[in-house]
Amino acid sequence: MRDPKIITGFSRLTKDQKVDLVAGQVEYPENFAEVLRSSWHSDPQIQKLYDEFSENTLSNYYFPYGVAPNFKINGKLYMVPMVIEESSVVAAASGAAKFWSERGGFHSEVISAHKIGQVHFLWKDDVSLLREVFPQIRQQMIERTSPITSNMISRGGGIVSLELVEMTDLIPNYYQVKGTFDTKDSMGANFINSCLEEFADTLKDFINEDERFNASSLEVIMSILSNYTPECRVKTWVECDLSQHQGFDDSYSDEEFVRRFATGVKIAQVDVHRATTHNKGIFNGIDAVALATGNDFRAIEACGHTWASRNGHYQSLSEVSLENGKFRFSLDVAFALGTVGGLTNLHPLAKSSLDLLGNPGAEELMMIASAAGLANNYSAVKSLVTKGIQKGHMKMHLLNILNVFQATEAEKKEAIEYFKHEKVAYNSVSKFLESIR
Ligand code: MEV
Repeated sequence: MRDPKIITGFSRLTKDQKVDLVAGQVEYPENFAEVLRSSWHSDPQIQKLYDEFSENTLSNYYFPYGVAPNFKINGKLYMVPMVIEESSVVAAASGAAKFWSERGGFHSEVISAHKIGQVHFLWKDDVSLLREVFPQIRQQMIERTSPITSNMISRGGGIVSLELVEMTDLIPNYYQVKGTFDTKDSMGANFINSCLEEFADTLKDFINEDERFNASSLEVIMSILSNYTPECRVKTWVECDLSQHQGFDDSYSDEEFVRRFATGVKIAQVDVHRATTHNKGIFNGIDAVALATGNDFRAIEACGHTWASRNGHYQSLSEVSLENGKFRFSLDVAFALGTVGGLTNLHPLAKSSLDLLGNPGAEELMMIASAAGLANNYSAVKSLVTKGIQKGHMKMHLLNILNVFQATEAEKKEAIEYFKHEKVAYNSVSKFLESIR
């Protein structure tokens, strides 16, 4: 590894120059450059599209694109596209989807899809006059953003409300203009941020132009949407008679299984360490659908984890109820998704994913993603409280280990057969390969 140096003008280099410069940082530059170039798309036009998603692009980073079939959600069948690098997640989602498709499928409802954005500002004066004139300022904000909002309004969305919020008990002189937005099927980040910046300018102009105010009373700190969207909330559940788990796991009776499962979920409601892992399993499914459809999985996770802390401590996003002889497993989660704008229609595979799902609107996609989350959660907890996670996971991971040892196709075939009845571990695979090589 060479010593990295401060580089000026990197972004202005051609792509080939960037590749050569970066590859020159490692011991075998030709290999690195070759790996980067060999991952380019064969069609230069498509490659250009990928390059322009981001900056300083050198190559593409491949992730597996798979599907989990048999997702029945509100009576409709879906093949759910999932992009994820972790082995066993797609298999787990598929297994649960099939199991629940025979028990009524997933039920899901979106409570609302409103989003929040804020202009954060300091007001170093008496607030009563500002309060008095705020309805006028609000009206001007709505009028001045009409070039931005007109399209959204014609699609049935737009600005839902604007309020002045006082937060001086937390930071001296701190206030917000809090906007609520309906962005219909788009994620709406650019829409909301553009509106907010216009709100901030409107506020400044109003204060500057009205002589009753001293212009220096106002200091706008920042204008930005919030990724915490508690109103973008989706509830998804599966339910069946307790006896419908029958024959599901040989080691436990159905009653015992259901009791262990419910206890496993309860633990994630009270213990923060377990809750984090439990919810990670839920996001295995949600993020994989978000990625496959060109959505921002960081925003989704940020919101979901904040939502998981809404009661004052971080807890499980899912819960179990066992009443009247019924097992009901439900997920209540907040996150925002889009099916128009952003990468959703630009990335060729994201566009195809949406096609595969029948071109859903944002609310339908929220239901699909949350069903994938609940499916993964169901499979994970089911394995954890029965045979343990490693057996299934390592079976799925076997191919990765074999690839680390550069096993041939014939060796892989033999190994898969052998490890049907043996515990998969890095060492045991290594030993097995030595024995047949
Ligand atoms: C692994 O990606 C996810 C799990 O750890 C989730 C869980 O423990 O519930 C299996």
